[in-house]
Amino acid sequence: MLMTAFVRALFVILLITFTVLADDNNKYFHEPAEDDLHRHYDARYFTGLVTDEERQITLRAMIRAYLLLFRNFQLETWIAHGTLLGWYWNAKILPWDWDLDAQVTNTTLATLAQKHNHTYWDFRSHELNITRQYLLDINPWFWERVRGDGANIIDGRFIDLSNGLFLDITGLAANDVNNTNVVECKNEHRYNLSDIFPLRKSTFEGASAKVPYAYAQVLADEYTSQALTQNRFHNHTFDTSRGEWLLTADDVEDSEEVAPEGGAFS
Ligand SMILES: *[C@@H]1O[C@H](CO)[C@@H](O)[C@H](O)[C@H]1NC(C)=O
Ligand SMILES: *[C@@H]1O[C@H](CO)[C@@H](O)[C@H](O)[C@H]1NC(C)=O
Ligand SMILES: *[C@@H]1O[C@H](CO)[C@@H](O)[C@H](O)[C@H]1NC(C)=O
Ligand SMILES: *[C@@H]1O[C@H](CO)[C@@H](O)[C@H](O)[C@H]1NC(C)=O
Ligand SMILES: *[C@@H]1O[C@H](CO)[C@@H](O)[C@H](O)[C@H]1NC(C)=O
Ligand SMILES: *[C@@H]1O[C@H](CO)[C@@H](O)[C@H](O)[C@H]1NC(C)=O
Repeated sequence: MLMTAFVRALFVILLITFTVLADDNNKYFHEPAEDDLHRHYDARYFTGLVTDEERQITLRAMIRAYLLLFRNFQLETWIAHGTLLGWYWNAKILPWDWDLDAQVTNTTLATLAQKHNHTYWDFRSHELNITRQYLLDINPWFWERVRGDGANIIDGRFIDLSNGLFLDITGLAANDVNNTNVVECKNEHRYNLSDIFPLRKSTFEGASAKVPYAYAQVLADEYTSQALTQNRFHNHTFDTSRGEWLLTADDVEDSEEVAPEGGAFS
């Protein structure tokens, strides 16, 4: 009886190991686990889950460092996905977000790979009173512009080495030779070039940043138009007078049920 249970357990362990190995085939960036708590850390620098406060400080310092670095490189980048949604509301990171997203063109991606891959950068944030080191790492599968098995849809990462939290960099390329006005990333997000360019100059978390030209359209396409008006989300309510997402004090129903596909606005 005991033996059977043991053999069964062993079998399950082997099966899991096998599945994980099969899934990991060719994957460049790794996370400590795929669940919501772990998938926002780079496995190489993960030392444990960080507190909410540490997460927010990390991400704020990271986006400024990233934007400054690209300005020094004289390479164009713009904020995307949940990061862009945060910009839309109050030019700040959504307080419940766990990672950052930025996009670049395929040409910039190639330059990053050739000239800046695997470089380390120290940044001091005087306002936050912290110094952090970051790794800019470009996925060697970046030249393959199709989704494939989905293991390498992220083209690059800017990683905080102190805890493994990161910013995802994805490149946009025109894959359809007959329609070079449409560009896409490897995760099947498609954009008209005219929705992205010319980029608009703005600020984000106090740093100069660029955003897509038709940002509202881009956000509505990804998160539905509700994401631009729904002021209650993830236990937060947007306080218009303060321009901040504040934790909802009372236990009023979260409007999570009407959240669009993909859920977390991030
Ligand atoms: C980027 O994509 C364009 C088409 O939009 C193509 O002409 C160009 O060769 C690509 N550049 C690189 C570096 O892959
Ligand atoms: C900055 O952080 C250091 C420790 O990391 C601390 O000793 C110092 O008091 C802090 N300075 C301010 C202005 O908070
Ligand atoms: C970037 O550098 C790392 C470490 O050397 C390497 O494994 C990876 O393949 C490089 N990426 C590209 C795009 O060459
Ligand atoms: C591009 O257009 C040509 C000529 O109309 C057609 O033969 C080809 O299949 C098209 N390619 C794609 C990727 O749609
Ligand atoms: C691109 O523009 C065309 C024509 O304006 C529109 O029909 C299409 O939905 C747009 N595609 C995307 C991905 O925004
Ligand atoms: C909202 O708060 C409730 C009660 O504290 C908690 O159970 C739930 O996980 C929170 N939801 C989110 C999305 O953080």
